[in-house]
Amino acid sequence: MFRISKRKVTKPEARLLVRQIKLTPNIMGYSLTEWMTAEHIMVAEDENGSFVGACLSYDFHEDWNKIAALFVLKEFRGMGLGRSLFDKSCEDALKRRKNLYTISANKIVIKMMQDLDFVTFDSLAHLPKSANNKYKFVFYSHHLKWIANFYRLQEIARKTILYKSQKKFVYGVKLC
Ligand SMILES: CC(C)(COP(=O)(O)OP(=O)(O)OC[C@H]1O[C@@H](n2cnc3c(N)ncnc32)[C@H](O)[C@@H]1OP(=O)(O)O)[C@@H](O)C(=O)NCCC(=O)NCCS
Repeated sequence: MFRISKRKVTKPEARLLVRQIKLTPNIMGYSLTEWMTAEHIMVAEDENGSFVGACLSYDFHEDWNKIAALFVLKEFRGMGLGRSLFDKSCEDALKRRKNLYTISANKIVIKMMQDLDFVTFDSLAHLPKSANNKYKFVFYSHHLKWIANFYRLQEIARKTILYKSQKKFVYGVKLC
């Protein structure tokens, strides 16, 4: 039995997430401080209350929420937890009347986006009309802010060298 709930992560959980996410090329990374201070996190726990996965999302504008990092511990993958965390994070943001934005290079997550009817595109230059008309500046300034983070810059550089592969990221938006 697993439980998904919205709550803050503890410092040991945040440390575990940072450590584990360093090992995946699919998430550029969020710092310990970002995990500790984030307001919107869905957490999956096993029957003993032990942490097994999380989905971090945050509002980057009064109308927009970004599903930023989805992670399930290796031994608990393939049991539906990733999808539940993703679905519940989307539901939570939509309930708060936020449009959704996410980016992924992971085919499992790209399928989750498609199953939830996200409109997908291949770069910010191809933002769908529905978002582009009113929010182009919001997306570009969010992206600049996201990248202008010392921890992330370090991780992007490290992962680009380490994994070498040029991952193809898929962008998605869903209006509430
Ligand atoms: C991506 C991730 C969160 C998925 O978590 P998960 O708990 O294994 O996912 P689920 O068990 O909910 O599976 C979701 C769907 O993917 C499918 N799936 C799971 N593992 C798969 C695999 N290895 N290959 C193909 N499909 C797979 C499942 O069948 C399921 O499909 P369905 O809901 O249509 O039946 C997990 O693999 C992970 O943490 N990966 C490392 C970090 C990462 O890449 N995060 C995504 C960054 S955007």
